[in-house]
Amino acid sequence: MIEATVAVPVLAIDGPGGAGKGTVSRLLAAALGWHYLDSGALYRILALAATRHGVGLEDEAGVAALAPGLDIRFGTGDDDSVWLDGEEVSAQIRHESAGTMASVVAALPAVRQALLLRQRAFRQAPGLVADGRDMGTVVFTDARQKVFLTASAQERADRRYKQLIAKGIDVNIGDLLADINARDARDSNRAIAPLRPAEDATVIDTTRLSIPEVVAQILALVTENGAGVS
Ligand code: DC
Repeated sequence: MIEATVAVPVLAIDGPGGAGKGTVSRLLAAALGWHYLDSGALYRILALAATRHGVGLEDEAGVAALAPGLDIRFGTGDDDSVWLDGEEVSAQIRHESAGTMASVVAALPAVRQALLLRQRAFRQAPGLVADGRDMGTVVFTDARQKVFLTASAQERADRRYKQLIAKGIDVNIGDLLADINARDARDSNRAIAPLRPAEDATVIDTTRLSIPEVVAQILALVTENGAGVS
């Protein structure tokens, strides 16, 4: 008799850009000893690859065709570096403009389809913390725990402003807020996999919460429903 295989547990963390998903998800993965998927980085890398290959960002078939052939590697643990075809592209893909380009290619159905299996391949024992926009609604619909992290657009712009100023990058807070609002609108209004909480997600507004508070709340949820028990 074939025994039913117990699926590797997934903790899905979705939400808009700047809500703290990346930082929180990495800390959760470290605390649980699970793998981490930064799905936004895949869209950012694909957009970068398209510009390098001279493929227009709205060229749906052209961008999707690039996806299977890309050699993408992520650092593990504390190492958040990313390589594309053997070259480190961490700084380039973290740029504001790369986020906007990613949001453009992410609205194309064939592109999302082309990245689907690549994302699912990250599901490996003992577990996966998956960070994105549609982890709970499309990619890992059977995730044991789904969280939707949000924060006001003003708070997200303030956080980003502080990060950039700390790095010595001079930015205008009004421009940042406008970019955030434009990206939210594009991600939320697209026809395919729009940004929205899964029906069974726990929504956490991080506007007035510290990072350790958010991590503690999510760990409590995971432990409550047994996702942390292997
Ligand atoms: O999380 P991020 O800022 O790195 O994501 C960049 C863009 O990629 C974001 O504006 C929308 C898109 N994205 C997506 O559509 N689906 C995901 N699972 C992750 C990101």
